[in-house]
Amino acid sequence: MSQLFSSITIGSLQLKNRLVVSPMCQYSAEDGFANNWHLVHLGQFAIGGAAAVIQEATAISPEGRISYGDLGLWSDDHLEKYKEITTFIKENGAVPGIQLAHAGRKASSNKPWIGRGQFAPSDPLGWQTLAPSALAFHSGDYVPQELKIGQIKELIEQFGEAARRAVQAGYEIIELHAAHGYLIHQFLSPLSNLREDEFGGTFENRIRFLTEIINRVQREITSQSLWVRISATDWAENGWDLDQSILLSQLLTEQGVDVIDVSSGGLVSYQKIDVGPAYQLPFATAIKEKTGSTTATVGLIKTAAQAAEIIEQNKADLILIARSFLDDPHLPLHFAKELSVDTPWPKQYERAK
Ligand SMILES: Cc1cc2nc3c(=O)[nH]c(=O)nc-3n(C[C@H](O)[C@H](O)[C@H](O)COP(=O)(O)O)c2cc1C
Repeated sequence: MSQLFSSITIGSLQLKNRLVVSPMCQYSAEDGFANNWHLVHLGQFAIGGAAAVIQEATAISPEGRISYGDLGLWSDDHLEKYKEITTFIKENGAVPGIQLAHAGRKASSNKPWIGRGQFAPSDPLGWQTLAPSALAFHSGDYVPQELKIGQIKELIEQFGEAARRAVQAGYEIIELHAAHGYLIHQFLSPLSNLREDEFGGTFENRIRFLTEIINRVQREITSQSLWVRISATDWAENGWDLDQSILLSQLLTEQGVDVIDVSSGGLVSYQKIDVGPAYQLPFATAIKEKTGSTTATVGLIKTAAQAAEIIEQNKADLILIARSFLDDPHLPLHFAKELSVDTPWPKQYERAK
């Protein structure tokens, strides 16, 4: 049997295969509340045989949303629908996960199908963005407000509170979004963090925001698996790079992080990315080999053969897939068929097997 369909135990987490739905913003929430779109969107992947389903970047505060349509977890009022979502995912054989996020200087944006522009702080659909330093992402963007130490402490607390709610809602994987140029990544990279206090400057200072969030989140989780998504490189000179990612992954693993989910880019508008099939895999492999961390790879992995080879050659432990799951929510069932693996289908769908 292809190892792609072998189970894996990571701490107290058991996954039935190596295919995980990567978090994908749906820009379909109101005031952070999930609705039936999110239930059906996420639920379909459990029916389709994914081992775990990671819910989109879910904001820890209203200002942490990329757009006014993002999901949120800053209030206990948000919990009811999330409980329905996690219950459905579990009932259908998958593990529910959530990505906790703050967009920092990339917040206050429009829904992508309307236009990627950023709203002025005074716009009814926008707000004042926050960041480690007063540097905009795009030249045309609004300059973010530089965070004061007290505000940084408050954000760390908000990540903890969101984690408490995530546990209460039934999520079994909690992923911190430290990639793609959002707030935590803005602290990590010397290109967006020009601070001269204990949260900027040296590598140890730039990673402090993340490690303090992890400490705070760990006070809330019991058996839940803690994952961190990083951008392995900024794809820009003098930025965050693979060497720093390796060092960080080592420290995070020692700190008790269960999975390093390895993506890349998103920090600066002038990044130069070499995109191609599985183009981010070498980063996950390097981190896995140098640190012994359990790693997930993501990005342009589209075929069963490609995914199976990655696992069989031990280049990563998990495969996260985003767009191909939108195209085919039953992707694991179809990959199994292609690889001649007899995997169970939902009994309601057996006549189509
Ligand atoms: C519609 C859409 C929304 C996304 N939203 C998120 C998100 O909320 N958090 C995140 O870390 N990545 C997000 N991503 C990136 C994906 O998780 C994934 O890393 C990327 O699409 C590459 O994988 P793929 O080639 O399998 O699509 C999003 C991608 C898409 C297409």
